[in-house]
Amino acid sequence: MLIMGICGSYDLDSANGRLLEIILEECEEMGADTVVWDHGANPLPLVGAEGSWDNENVKAFQELATSADAFVLSSPEYHGTMSGVMKNSLDWLYSKHTSGKVFSLMSTLGGKASNNTLNHMRIAARWIHGWVTPEQVAVPNVKTAFHEDGALLSEELRERMSSMAKSLVDSTQKLRG
Ligand SMILES: Cc1cc2nc3c(=O)[nH]c(=O)nc-3n(C[C@H](O)[C@H](O)[C@H](O)COP(=O)(O)O)c2cc1C
Repeated sequence: MLIMGICGSYDLDSANGRLLEIILEECEEMGADTVVWDHGANPLPLVGAEGSWDNENVKAFQELATSADAFVLSSPEYHGTMSGVMKNSLDWLYSKHTSGKVFSLMSTLGGKASNNTLNHMRIAARWIHGWVTPEQVAVPNVKTAFHEDGALLSEELRERMSSMAKSLVDSTQKLRG
């Protein structure tokens, strides 16, 4: 089983990059292989920009998505919704890459908790025929959410991450039959 992480922050050295590391480590402990798309090393052009339809990074991104069995999306909340980096990444995926595959969702907020970004990503994942786990994680007050060693400080959030990782791997196994 291959699980692909997609980060809504350009830089993986970010809160969302760290959340992907945490969740994918848990999935690996359950036997999954994992990979994260690195926008810094392999940026995706805006959909429709000149030359974008033949872009090599786009082809590699779509091939990796096709080979993946499941996805984890992690996006910062920007102005009440997912980041442009996340929306553009999802705009490069169609149901032929993602249909019938499981998605789990995470978001970070500078301020208080909100489900906006999670709900908006859930709609986009539905549009590309993904099955989204009911478990989801929003990390509020992100600047103070992590220990200096990179662990989440909140026990409740750590538990939610573990439940979501288990749900993602279990659901993917069930759907693969
Ligand atoms: C353009 C922009 C818009 C933002 N809008 C919101 C917002 O609507 N709500 C909020 O709580 N934080 C907002 N923030 C703060 C980000 O959510 C926060 O910096 C981010 O979650 C940190 O994650 P990162 O380290 O992965 O970038 C915004 C930040 C930027 C740059």
